[in-house]
Amino acid sequence: MTLEMLQTQIDRLGLPRASDTARPDLATLRALRDSVTDLVATDGFLKDCLSRDLTLMSQDRLRTGLVPFHVLPETGARCALGYWAPGATPGPHQHSGWTVTAVCRNRLEVQTFDRQASLEQQVLVAKNRFLATVGQVGYIAEPAIHAPTNTSNRWTLSFHLSGPHDGVNVGDERPISGLSEITSDRSGPAAPYVAALTQRQRQRHSNVAARIAATLNHPERGALLRACARLGTSALARWVSEQLGDGSAGLTDWELERSHSELELWHTIDAGRVTLWATTPDGPRAELIVDTLAASAIAFVAEAARYRVQDLPGALSRSERVELGIALEHTGLFKRSHRP
Ligand SMILES: [Fe+2]
Repeated sequence: MTLEMLQTQIDRLGLPRASDTARPDLATLRALRDSVTDLVATDGFLKDCLSRDLTLMSQDRLRTGLVPFHVLPETGARCALGYWAPGATPGPHQHSGWTVTAVCRNRLEVQTFDRQASLEQQVLVAKNRFLATVGQVGYIAEPAIHAPTNTSNRWTLSFHLSGPHDGVNVGDERPISGLSEITSDRSGPAAPYVAALTQRQRQRHSNVAARIAATLNHPERGALLRACARLGTSALARWVSEQLGDGSAGLTDWELERSHSELELWHTIDAGRVTLWATTPDGPRAELIVDTLAASAIAFVAEAARYRVQDLPGALSRSERVELGIALEHTGLFKRSHRP
């Protein structure tokens, strides 16, 4: 099944047009939930979602919430994927429009709140807590407050279908203590450090996407895995090669370049450790702390715009340079260079 089939289902159900602020009725939302339940159980649908989301991921924008990879014409319904690191939660937040949410991989624990009581008392009043496991699909029909959390030690992937008016004030809000704003896309021009954060996020998300892509039984599995590899770290690219039987020779040397040419980096040496620092909008941030054995390599990368991992200076073995290269790449301060 494919994303086009979702479009067909939505057309069949007759959801309100984008310009119409009316909510779909309960029977329509339940039917939509059932359709989404069938769709997310198929590898074809997941492949379509991941493939479109990888295109979105390749853009220079940091995700601070759900960012749609596709907006359905006419209804304006938004399709997005949620990548949840272990422990991740957006905190308690309100949905003012309709949503249908599916757990595609792993699970989420969801705390719901009594919205009416919360509004009256202006403090969050807990209602239910439940576990949403893989394949489970829920919906929100009326304005609601909830807080999903990935309480597991593995990444969770979720699919979100939401109405075009979700997040828009419904008119009866009073301030509720502890309620987070719905954070959607807050992308802007890629400031130097934001570029590093975006790169780190892209590496983590493409890694999650690749592990899922590898499990899919689909003719485009290979193309999807290669798309993940293009966005991910050198280690992911090697893993993908292994999955595809490309005869990968192992990770020994590769070229890294600074995520943003104006990213400001420097190093300090203290008590047998060398620290690589970055200038961030919130002040200096320690990005990597390693043994002083790597001091000259860290001093070098703080200055270099581009370098080969095996050219890192200092008394390091070949495998130590590989380890350091992997650690440097994981900071997001540097990315794999695709220069030929
Ligand atoms: Fe939510």
